[in-house]
Amino acid sequence: MEMNPLWQQKKLRELFKEKGIIVTVYSPLVAEGTLWGKSWVMDCEVLHETANQKGKTVAQVCLRWVYEQGVSLLVKSFNKERMNENLDIFDWKLSAEESAKMVLTNCSRVFGMARSDHYTSFTSS
Ligand SMILES: NC(=O)c1ccc[n+]([C@@H]2O[C@H](COP(=O)([O-])OP(=O)(O)OC[C@H]3O[C@@H](n4cnc5c(N)ncnc54)[C@H](OP(=O)(O)O)[C@@H]3O)[C@@H](O)[C@H]2O)c1
Repeated sequence: MEMNPLWQQKKLRELFKEKGIIVTVYSPLVAEGTLWGKSWVMDCEVLHETANQKGKTVAQVCLRWVYEQGVSLLVKSFNKERMNENLDIFDWKLSAEESAKMVLTNCSRVFGMARSDHYTSFTSS
């Protein structure tokens, strides 16, 4: 299923867990840079703040958050540096405080729909 820090899919994940279904996440960066994708994850201020504090990239913070939710994930890149960057998420973790901040970025479906008021007001404050 599609999932990222801005579309956390909590209810669906709870259902899958209850049914013993293992989740694989696609488009965790919301297909950043493609014609059909969105830049909302890469533009998210919360992710930028965390990335700056940790010396990581926004993509790495996003992918690490997804990984920490106990799912597997598929991220795609044609660029060798970004492939390595995307793989470099396994020897560090988000703190409890950083993870708690991510909860505030949650909003309804990202692809093709406007961001929630909550997300807009949170990131613009
Ligand atoms: N099963 C399904 O229904 C389904 C649906 C959608 C997608 N998928 C699959 O899921 C995989 C990933 O999804 P996706 O390609 O749609 O979206 P994605 O992985 O979220 O985003 C890919 C885009 O992000 C860029 N990117 C990758 N790493 C980056 C980084 N570290 N920093 C900045 N930009 C970065 C890539 O550009 P560069 O190549 O220039 O790095 C590419 O334009 C694909 O293999 C896709 O086929 C499956």
